[in-house]
Amino acid sequence: MTYVQLPDSPVNLVSRNSSRSNNLRRRAHRLIPGGTHTYAKGDDQYPENAPAFIARGQGCHVWDVDGNEFIEYGMGLRAVTLGHAYKPVVDAAFRQMQLGTNFTRPARIEVKAAETILDVIDGAEMVKFAKNGSDVTTAAVRLARAYTGRELIAICGDQPFFSTDDWFIGTTDMDAGIPQPISGMTVKFNYNNTASLRELFYKYPGRIAGVILEAETSEPPDPRFLKDIKSLCEEKGSILIFDEMITGFRWDLGGAQKFHGVVPHLSTFGKALANGFSVAALAGKRDIMKLGGFEHDRERVFLLSTTHGAETHALAAAIETIRIYREKNVVEFLWKQGELLRHLINLSIVENRLQGFFEVKGRPCNLVFVTRDENLRPSQEFRTLFLQEMIRRRVIAPSLVVSFSHSNADVIHTAEAVFEAHVVYRKALDEGIEKYLEGRPVKPVFRKRN
Ligand SMILES: Cc1ncc(COP(=O)(O)O)c(C=O)c1O
Repeated sequence: MTYVQLPDSPVNLVSRNSSRSNNLRRRAHRLIPGGTHTYAKGDDQYPENAPAFIARGQGCHVWDVDGNEFIEYGMGLRAVTLGHAYKPVVDAAFRQMQLGTNFTRPARIEVKAAETILDVIDGAEMVKFAKNGSDVTTAAVRLARAYTGRELIAICGDQPFFSTDDWFIGTTDMDAGIPQPISGMTVKFNYNNTASLRELFYKYPGRIAGVILEAETSEPPDPRFLKDIKSLCEEKGSILIFDEMITGFRWDLGGAQKFHGVVPHLSTFGKALANGFSVAALAGKRDIMKLGGFEHDRERVFLLSTTHGAETHALAAAIETIRIYREKNVVEFLWKQGELLRHLINLSIVENRLQGFFEVKGRPCNLVFVTRDENLRPSQEFRTLFLQEMIRRRVIAPSLVVSFSHSNADVIHTAEAVFEAHVVYRKALDEGIEKYLEGRPVKPVFRKRN
């Protein structure tokens, strides 16, 4: 990996070619609503100088269709935790692919994959695989409803995303096409606020089937919060579900549930599970999970049955990913590199007098940043400016989430880019952002209108 060193700049600031990107962008928007298949990757989430399309990736580096090289953070929406095209995982998937990807009867590897994941998720006794995180959180919701015979689902209203399905999207600002009776069956409580959940149980007695949350995002839980909500769920006969899509295989190999020592009744995994291959998992207590099977005399629950759910090479990728996590202490590395990055960025914050204006938050394995304007209000304009200046210095950083491939050199290059971006941030605070922001600001995904 080489960077062109400019005489007065520690990072590569050479101008970029983007003719192929621009051409592809025009074609994409004509063919694909929003120009991409995932809103979080969309043009409205990035400044105008962002590379439009990626041609390939290796480790934590990517090359756009014009051949420009970048360091990436939060790779594949946090799915790629080992690195792009990570050879042992690609090889494991390829070996399996050559044996066939999908059969009329179950594949042998389904059992091995189930054993592998149950071996790391301590409190879970059964597991079912799917392709997307949304499918498994939705399955958890259905299972909670079937098990309890109740209708309402309580979600943590301070957390951004649980599923692409109506029970969740109906609660967002982008709820077009979702009937109100469906949205009305999801109710919200606040993170680190057991009283707000207790109030819901009081307001809807005997009606809440399940409570779903991420055990932690960028704020840590108060010491008793997770234990208290588990006790409350058990007292009220509700199912506690941890969405471990992001925390899984980052906080600990056993997820945030292991890290915090609180085992939920059901939990859902995806993203980091197979280093970017599409595998998601619903795991949990036998007593609840078995409703999706044959060994019970209650009403049958249609639990996760999809054509591609057990695609063999994706399961092989998951097994190999977990093996590597164990063999190479991947989680420890993620925490260590994140801590180094945070430390270097905090030095830059002080040096550029950006305390309060730019803040790095979260656990080292999952760092995010907050941007605030001259009045210390959260600012999409300043977020855009920061992204713009980082991209100019060949770093794509919608978050600061590291992977196993982020070497010391990558982290140091990033910190240098952050320092230079912070110099511009400071000037924009002092002189007005209009002078420095090129083009329109980014926008939140969940909004009523364009
Ligand atoms: C916390 C959380 N839950 C669920 C999902 C849905 O996962 P998927 O995009 O695989 O459907 C996401 C995706 O971003 C997520 O961050």
